[in-house]
Amino acid sequence: MDTLDHLLDRNLAWAKRKANADATYFQRMAEQQSPHYLWIGCSDSRVTANSVMGLDPGEVFVHRNIANMVHTSDLNLLSVIEYALEVLNIRHIILCGHYGCGGIQRALTGAHSALVDHWLQPIAMLYRKHRAVFDAMADEQRHARLCEINVEMQVRRLAATPLVEAAWARGQPVMLHGWIYAIHDGLLRDLGPHLDSAAERDALPSIDSRVSQAVDPPTAARRNALHAFSAMAPDPVGACACGELAATQAGE
Ligand code: CO
Repeated sequence: MDTLDHLLDRNLAWAKRKANADATYFQRMAEQQSPHYLWIGCSDSRVTANSVMGLDPGEVFVHRNIANMVHTSDLNLLSVIEYALEVLNIRHIILCGHYGCGGIQRALTGAHSALVDHWLQPIAMLYRKHRAVFDAMADEQRHARLCEINVEMQVRRLAATPLVEAAWARGQPVMLHGWIYAIHDGLLRDLGPHLDSAAERDALPSIDSRVSQAVDPPTAARRNALHAFSAMAPDPVGACACGELAATQAGE
């Protein structure tokens, strides 16, 4: 029988390292969790909320499923959101997709023989509906664009859940964020939308209208560079190539 002793041994080594570095670490962890963020991401083994954000245990509440989908009948997700909003008082929900998502790749194939195809049905249908637009793209671009549009779509679906609506209705500050992670460089990108009210949600353009409007979601490094650049240039919206960058920044 394989008892996975190597993993238990690694756990022991990890716990010892933690305790040696900080004698009260596990004692503090045991007292309570008070994370500031809820992460809704893909089950992909390469996209782990704590590590990509550089956070310790206790700092982010996590729900993951294939292709970071929001189904309003998913009792698992809804229970997580309810607990996050009503018990943990979390103010930020991050819906994070990733490039190279196998779930999104599956949705592009038109397959319909497995449970996962039911799970992926909303994004598969969006692809079918706008097939002319997507199929005009090169393979890699098509996949990347569908990963991005899936994030935008799931943020909208999250904003439409009665749980989030109820939080907003009682004046609880809850901000929704749409992010995407690139496995090839380890960087998160802020894709949007950012929503903190039902009015903002209702003012969003339809997901259909977003399909052909690709954006270039900035990483923190690029956002910081744009910020530094705009401080240096008194009139950044000029005729040079920087005009587009400045306009992008202004639109954020
Ligand atoms: Co994935």
